[in-house]
Amino acid sequence: MTWKDSLAIGVPALDKQHRELCDQVDKLFDACSHGKGADEVKRILDFLASYTVRHFADEEAFQQKIKYPKYLQHKAKHTDFLNQVTKLKKEATENGVNIAMVIKINQTISTWLVEHIKATDSDLKNYI
Ligand SMILES: [Fe+2]
Repeated sequence: MTWKDSLAIGVPALDKQHRELCDQVDKLFDACSHGKGADEVKRILDFLASYTVRHFADEEAFQQKIKYPKYLQHKAKHTDFLNQVTKLKKEATENGVNIAMVIKINQTISTWLVEHIKATDSDLKNYI
């Protein structure tokens, strides 16, 4: 998922994290499409999982600071994503990373992140 300046919400610290997330999703695609193996896919998945925890915490703290009215709805979407990633990690650990799993990981993460940054985070941008 290539970063575009149009995705920026205008908060430098959060934009930097969004850019990092996009880069990691690209790496995940790359690892999958070049058959870099299950270990690499799992490593990036682990990184994404821990990085999103940190990023969501920062983003939520920022929303509370500016008294963002949709804070609770936004936080619920973050929680939903973390649950999905936890499920994917569990599945990858239990069943290994086969091609079906790779497709599922890619689709779940990229679809969610693109939609989230474009729709939910851009609503935050409008509020700011
Ligand atoms: Fe968000």
